[in-house]
Amino acid sequence: MDIKSYLKDKQGLVDAFFKTYFSRQQHPPVLQEAMLYSLFAGGKRIRPILALAAYETCGGNPRDIVPYASTLELIHTYSLIHDDLPAMDNDDLRRGKPTNHKIYGEAIAILAGDALLTEAFSILSDATLSSKVSVAHLMGALREIALASGLDGMVAGQVQDMLSENREPDGETLQFIHSHKTGALLRASVRIGPILYGSSQTSLDALTAYGDNIGLAFQVIDDILDIEGDTEEMGKTAGSDEKINKMTYPRLYGLKRSKEIARNLVADAKAALSVFSSEADSLREIADYLLTRRN
Ligand code: IPE
Ligand code: IPE
Ligand code: MG
Ligand code: MG
Ligand code: MG
Repeated sequence: MDIKSYLKDKQGLVDAFFKTYFSRQQHPPVLQEAMLYSLFAGGKRIRPILALAAYETCGGNPRDIVPYASTLELIHTYSLIHDDLPAMDNDDLRRGKPTNHKIYGEAIAILAGDALLTEAFSILSDATLSSKVSVAHLMGALREIALASGLDGMVAGQVQDMLSENREPDGETLQFIHSHKTGALLRASVRIGPILYGSSQTSLDALTAYGDNIGLAFQVIDDILDIEGDTEEMGKTAGSDEKINKMTYPRLYGLKRSKEIARNLVADAKAALSVFSSEADSLREIADYLLTRRN
């Protein structure tokens, strides 16, 4: 399997959905412009891809859940727009372009984020978007994504991330921050595959363990890239964590140990897939890709 073309193919499905979905003109036009600016700036689309791959692993046709999988990218993009604001990480570069607030101002950036988040739940509550998904399964996915995004998930992680700037790092706080601000949505991305398909508890448990491990690994790798990565390649400014004294894995454990932690998490993620045979190969390849990614 060629992972590069697999990712490209799935990105294409997500992008095509967004193009159609957002084609009707919004008022005021600047809102639509600001949303689409960040949405089409060139993200990896890894969260919807994980949902599509997990659904496929369970036996479904990924094309049947593209709108629902795409909502993960809407929520993720909103979180990036807000994360980059001066009140938060104060970053100027995202996905290779000036950050949303640099172009549209803070008020529109905040509101574009709000609109992306809200639109995600509008899509998740529209059962007419797939004839293959039951309303009960769709409700399950909606709840999964809501829990991962809000009070007990990403937002909690972002708050702890802010509170922990300039603090002495400790393992427990770090794990809380990373598993919430980033891990939670990645875990949910994987889990909505089996939830939308109505898979067995065994499959759901295995995919949950996979999602937990790659979710945490993803942010550990993000921390490493912030130190070792290249601004141009990443499309965001390297060294941003150090500048505002973020609590990160390399700061507590050093680079070498952080890389080892990421490798072990990815190995554990793949081990959790042992209940599946070749149908989970895409998820195995994605796990390896995450470890070697440069952006
Ligand atoms: C960056 O996410 C922010 C984190 C949660 C670590 P991605 O690395 O998925 O960024 P894009 O979507 O490809 O731009
Ligand atoms: C971001 O973590 C997590 C969320 C946006 C929820 P970071 O602040 O490390 O992400 P980057 O490095 O700005 O992409
Ligand atoms: Mg941040
Ligand atoms: Mg940031
Ligand atoms: Mg980062």
